[in-house]
Amino acid sequence: MNNSLSIPPLAKDLVRVLIDAATIERRVDELARQITEDYQNLEGDLILVGVLKGSFIFIADLARKMMKKHVIDFIALSSYDGGTSGNVRLLMDTRENMENKHVLIVEDILDSGNTLDYLTRSFMTRSPRSVKTAVLLDKPERHEVDIKVDYIGFTIPDVWVVGYGLDYNERYRTLPYIAEMKPQEG
Ligand code: IMP
Ligand code: MG
Repeated sequence: MNNSLSIPPLAKDLVRVLIDAATIERRVDELARQITEDYQNLEGDLILVGVLKGSFIFIADLARKMMKKHVIDFIALSSYDGGTSGNVRLLMDTRENMENKHVLIVEDILDSGNTLDYLTRSFMTRSPRSVKTAVLLDKPERHEVDIKVDYIGFTIPDVWVVGYGLDYNERYRTLPYIAEMKPQEG
């Protein structure tokens, strides 16, 4: 047996592993514990809303570690490419009624902040008890809107990252770690 075979080489367009799988797991554990504690004694149901597609692995891991009863829902958005319009388009809405419930938005990454800003505002009009936000990654250098996030996994530099749900043109979503991409041409 050759031990070096147990570490697959990085794909050609990846620069380095930024956050390895064990570190992600430990941090998601901590977030789940914190969130459980914060919602433990609150009255009212809790809905976790995952923002598709990037958050699908994060929300699956987070939800399974939470000790507070909750319901899972999803929303799908797309932002217009090419430009800094900050326009967010709704592709698929949630199914759960949010009235009188606590809503926790679960997102992969906070970049410009437009997605979370849009979602928070839109959910606030649905008469919830509260709306909070959890992101796995935050790129503070990229923020365009002033937004307060309640739970942050890791703060990262302004580089394109993939893995653990995040993609580049739909690739690399199922890597177990978060890796930095090589800057792409054009
Ligand atoms: P916003 O600019 O904060 O609205 O971020 C929006 C979305 O851009 C995130 O939910 C991701 O889907 C995507 N995104 C931003 N930065 C990255 C990245 O480094 N890798 C993969 N997706 C990203
Ligand atoms: Mg996303």
